[in-house]
Amino acid sequence: TVLATKAPVIVAPSMDANMFQNSITQDNLAKLKARGFTIVDPGYGYLASGKVGLGRLADVEKIIGTVKQVLGRSGDLAGKRIVVTAGGTREPIDPVRHIGNRSSGKMGYAMAEAARDRGATVTLITAPTSLPEPASMEVIRVETAVQMKEAVTKASAQADALIMAAAVADYQPKNVAEAKIKKEAPTLTLELVKTPDILTEVKGNLIKVGFAAESEDVIENARRKLEKKKLDLMAANDITAKESGFAVDTNKVTLISRDGKIESLPLMSKREVADRILDRVVGMLDGRSVELIIKPFMIKLRRIRIDSDKRGIFPPLGTGFDLELDDGSVINTYIDKRTGQIWKNIRQWFKAHPELKAGDKVIITVVEPLKKYRLEIIK
Ligand code: CTP
Repeated sequence: TVLATKAPVIVAPSMDANMFQNSITQDNLAKLKARGFTIVDPGYGYLASGKVGLGRLADVEKIIGTVKQVLGRSGDLAGKRIVVTAGGTREPIDPVRHIGNRSSGKMGYAMAEAARDRGATVTLITAPTSLPEPASMEVIRVETAVQMKEAVTKASAQADALIMAAAVADYQPKNVAEAKIKKEAPTLTLELVKTPDILTEVKGNLIKVGFAAESEDVIENARRKLEKKKLDLMAANDITAKESGFAVDTNKVTLISRDGKIESLPLMSKREVADRILDRVVGMLDGRSVELIIKPFMIKLRRIRIDSDKRGIFPPLGTGFDLELDDGSVINTYIDKRTGQIWKNIRQWFKAHPELKAGDKVIITVVEPLKKYRLEIIK
């Protein structure tokens, strides 16, 4: 049946640890991977034999997450890289105490999972939460605002969109005590200094989405923040409302976009809110990328033809630009004036992808308008 199916195949191996680690099993798994199967690696723990090791069937959550990711591969965010932040940062006071906030991380995790299920390559940068780790995405764990800023800056360099759902502390203790502060003085004063504003400081040609948790003048405050932080979209919510805000599964947000459009969404699950935000992100990203279907002549001639209606995002015909390939290398090329084809320096890319066939889809995304673009195969 497996050989007959055209559906994607996911294998979740489960066996004795020695059997799993045996090079024969590993070679076979590598072969399956090379043929396009997706492997959900087993977990570590008690095995049927009574021993402890690597071989337990992966958690159901992880298997389901992988299924969703595989089914979403051709979703409307396929080929897109999205960075999502979640949770509330912790700013240390001494080795045992910190300043924290009530963010549960649920909105950010829902955002990350929704983006994954629509085909995006997701990096989730999360402050501590009690939520289970989502499958099929890169998860980077941080504690403080400063650490989050470093992780976001690094991940955003390659990203198409940054969605800041984290509740980042606005202030951090100026000095962190090296030893536990003792209960001696009747009062204790902490001096706080501002943390970096991550959304404002992260630069680049990427879509930026913020969340504004407000307790008064929700729309007005959110609109001001959108301007100040130069965002493309702001999701504002009133945290004083019972069914929206911290620690609950639902949220009632108003979406405010850069062009001033305001849309108040009804109360819905955080996952639904995430999808509505991503609908907007897809719309904004569409203007920054083109999808192309590989034709037989392209494979034969090792060229890519850009249809005339899709040339708008590129510099004028005959003008050079950089094209980043999937191995990270960058070639300099242009769209030929006469043929509408990209042929200069691109033969190597075709050579590196002998599996490419007519009907496959590729996506070219603007990294830096008129200067740098990225070419990827949509799997
Ligand atoms: N944010 C950020 N870096 C910070 C603080 C906030 O990137 N140091 C992001 C949040 O993740 C959120 C957006 O900015 O997406 C708005 O956060 P909010 O706390 O509402 O805004 P502030 O600028 O901190 O304004 P204030 O606390 O004065 O309301």
